[in-house]
Amino acid sequence: MEIGFMKTILIANWKMHYGPMKAGGWIRAFRRERLPKDLDIVVAVPHVSLAAARASLGRASIPALAAQDSFWTADGAYTGEISPAMLLEFGVQYSLVGHSERRIYLGETDEMVAKKAAALQAAGIAPVICVGENEAQYKKGEMAKVLKAQVTAAIANLKPDGKSAMIFAYEPVWAIGTGKACPPQAAKEAHEVIRSAIQKKFNSNVAEHTRVIYGGSVDANNINEYVTTTGVNGALVGGASLDPRAFALLCRTANPA
Ligand code: 13P
Repeated sequence: MEIGFMKTILIANWKMHYGPMKAGGWIRAFRRERLPKDLDIVVAVPHVSLAAARASLGRASIPALAAQDSFWTADGAYTGEISPAMLLEFGVQYSLVGHSERRIYLGETDEMVAKKAAALQAAGIAPVICVGENEAQYKKGEMAKVLKAQVTAAIANLKPDGKSAMIFAYEPVWAIGTGKACPPQAAKEAHEVIRSAIQKKFNSNVAEHTRVIYGGSVDANNINEYVTTTGVNGALVGGASLDPRAFALLCRTANPA
């Protein structure tokens, strides 16, 4: 499969860090850094921090804003949930869906992930669908089987094109927050599995033009190995995104031009 040219995307995932009091400071500090132009740089902030992040950004578009989750209907009796329409009010362009921490701690299923991804796409927000095997599955050699099932389920209701093109994040659970990053060649194989599931549902053109990014213990020291690996179109960064200067360095390292 030929992988078409796609702009590298780096997404900072703060997870449950930085409420509104700290979010603006992060954005301002990050924007004071020298930032490469040839990358899509995105920051996924807690819902309660979206207003503060947007206020600090003003009209600036770098970094773009992402949510960490989103519900599957526009409104209704769903206490505690946040809809894609609400996210749009903050200029959110992307939202993570199905992060393993949500699957593990909140029981999020493949079916919920599929509904969330479709609702985001219909609203014009690009779903960043997170998939990945856990350590037991990895040890049993089930990476491909797990990814195929997760990807196939997640894209059940998606459209292949449109302005809010889907993105996949391969995040092996055993590599998240452990300092044990998945070797780039292994990530490349996983990305091929993801692309072949996309190809099966749509076609090779869609598979070749869907961005698939890697996440799990990525930092400024190893980012270059990933973004120079064929089929890896960027990274989803947790711990190494919490310091705005460190994340800016990571962005410059990924794109030294
Ligand atoms: P770490 O970069 O902290 O390993 O987290 C990865 C992750 O889960 C990003 O979504």
